[in-house]
Amino acid sequence: MNLNNYETLLTEKSGRALIVTINRPDKANALSEKSFLELRDLFDQIAASRGLFAGVCITGKGDKAFAAGADIAAMNAMSSQQGEDFSALAQSVTLQIEALPVPVIACVNGYAFGGGCELALSCDFIYATHASEFGQPEVNLGLIPGFGGCVRLARCIGLGLARELIYTGRRMKADEAVKAGLVNRVFENKLLMLESALETIKVIGTKSSSAVALCKRTIQTTEAQSIEAGLLSERRSFRAAFESPHKSEGVRAFIEKRKAIFS
Ligand code: COA
Repeated sequence: MNLNNYETLLTEKSGRALIVTINRPDKANALSEKSFLELRDLFDQIAASRGLFAGVCITGKGDKAFAAGADIAAMNAMSSQQGEDFSALAQSVTLQIEALPVPVIACVNGYAFGGGCELALSCDFIYATHASEFGQPEVNLGLIPGFGGCVRLARCIGLGLARELIYTGRRMKADEAVKAGLVNRVFENKLLMLESALETIKVIGTKSSSAVALCKRTIQTTEAQSIEAGLLSERRSFRAAFESPHKSEGVRAFIEKRKAIFS
């Protein structure tokens, strides 16, 4: 496993958390094809390293931007086929994040526009600072959100507000983003935000990893299902939890009045 061999990303382990930093500060951390290829490789490695990490934080280098969107200069030279391929690559990374068995927290410092906002939307939840701003400004460029924004933003904040933001390109500040349900918590600065995200991952790391993974998968798969279909999926996951050694240990530990040890 080599998590340090990237041009556009930095990685740092902190306990059982991995901090991933999008590292193109001179371009407001704009996401290029290279960024997504490297993210794809990184998430492949994390998925293969079962149990090594309890969670991942994604942030942007510096204080200005989480990521100011897809790389506009690169898109200038793309054909429509290349544009579709770029969208497919970026979308595949968002699906990888959703499929990861551990939580991913987007720690949004500064601007999360376009692809940056869409990357954050594919994470399990979002923390932000008071300086954060969110938006899908693609209509200013004659483009549309192509990395999941047309699909995920409405599911997160509701159709009406998502339509307004996408049609107007309006930027939403952190306080409004919390009220809209896009952001869980807002912090004074990036350091406090990262510390809190690491603490959240530390807490999650003390829980049953198989139960957390099942919760993530079940929430993910049932999101777009009918209540009946969702409940069926949940029931199957509940059964899978019963089949795990963690359930035996967790339930027995409660009855024996001791702390569960999840290996
Ligand atoms: N793609 C490529 N480069 C980008 C970029 C993007 N999405 N966003 C910013 N950059 C680059 C700028 O071109 C500039 O590079 P340069 O110094 O070589 O000219 C550098 O990042 C800094 O950006 P700048 O615009 O000078 O900073 P600012 O503080 O005045 O504004 C933003 C920051 C993010 C508000 C502004 O850059 C912006 O609106 N970016 C585009 C956002 C967008 O439309 N995203 C959706 C893309 S589909």
